Amino acid sequence: MSILATMKILFFSAKPYDNTFFERYNHYGFEMEFWETHLGPHIADAVKPGTDVICVFVNDKLTAEVIKTLFEKGVRIIALRCAGFNNVDLDAARKYGLRVCRVPAYSPEAVAEHAVAMLLTLNRKTHKAYNRVREQNFSLTGLIGFNLFGKTIAVIGTGKIGAAFCKIMLGFGCKVVAFDPFENDDLKLRGIEYLPFHEVIKLADVISLHCPLTAENGYLINAAAIAAMKKGVIIINTSRGGLINTKDTIEALKNGRIGALGIDVYEQEQKLFFKDLSGSIIDDDEIQRLISFPNVLVTGHQAFFTQEALVEIAESTLHTISKLLQNQAVDNDPSVLV
Ligand code: NAI
Repeated sequence: MSILATMKILFFSAKPYDNTFFERYNHYGFEMEFWETHLGPHIADAVKPGTDVICVFVNDKLTAEVIKTLFEKGVRIIALRCAGFNNVDLDAARKYGLRVCRVPAYSPEAVAEHAVAMLLTLNRKTHKAYNRVREQNFSLTGLIGFNLFGKTIAVIGTGKIGAAFCKIMLGFGCKVVAFDPFENDDLKLRGIEYLPFHEVIKLADVISLHCPLTAENGYLINAAAIAAMKKGVIIINTSRGGLINTKDTIEALKNGRIGALGIDVYEQEQKLFFKDLSGSIIDDDEIQRLISFPNVLVTGHQAFFTQEALVEIAESTLHTISKLLQNQAVDNDPSVLV
């Protein structure tokens, strides 16, 4: 029996599709246990000794306290089955000698295509048309949109997802301007112009966020930034909720400065997303206000959710875990953070 078959992975925030895809691609024989609960200080102590790896998702909270508890339980690896890692205290992981890995690029196109879907829905109001026609209401009143062709799209963050989004928007015949501290030469050759953040947001008819949430860029979209934008701008956020100040955004939706908002992520999403709360009273007035606007589209962190992405997430996560458990060289491997 391979040494890997004696290793145990405990999954947090596990959904039925996690079980399906991880079981299917477990070519290593790992013992796997799937817990539905989030990981956080409330539950870390329940991890049983003998757990080698914990596998977490976007809303699990790996604070220094949680990491210390995991270390005391003998956990060796924290495997993020996502790209972003703003929810993990990497310094604490280093301090306690835990390795941390992620899936840096499972399907950039999945997220980019969802951002485009949100933009098209908001602009052409297909969500309203769908409901209207089901009621035999074929009136077009209130459904008017605008051509994306010739419009200016600002892309904040031109890494893997941002670059995929830029290419799609170029295909629509848009002018694409971008802000990223690291410029992508291939995109420049394709005609994308890099400008400072305050310049791109001034020029844009549509702004799409594709940068990670870091200690420096929280509330990148706040009252001051919104005041500099064109009146009626459309903002799309498929990155991280903390990039947008929700209160300021609600004010700007009320006074019409923001023309439409599409968000797949929300700053307080941890207590809401990935759950069926249809029978509950939601104690979050901001999300309720957002949902009430006719020009706001909220999806529950589903931009990544394609067949291709789920296969890649399972295969890549298990492969990286197997390398780390066997102490194979991982220098310059973008999957390994610590
Ligand atoms: P990436 O690492 O390939 O690219 C990120 C880019 O953002 C880099 O080029 C970086 O230089 C740039 N950047 C960093 N700080 C910036 C700032 N303050 N302003 C402008 N640009 C900045 O990451 P990737 O794969 O493109 O993912 C981007 C983000 O998308 C992730 O960090 C994650 O938060 C989010 N995401 C959301 C998913 C969803 O289902 N909604 C799924 C996967 C990722």
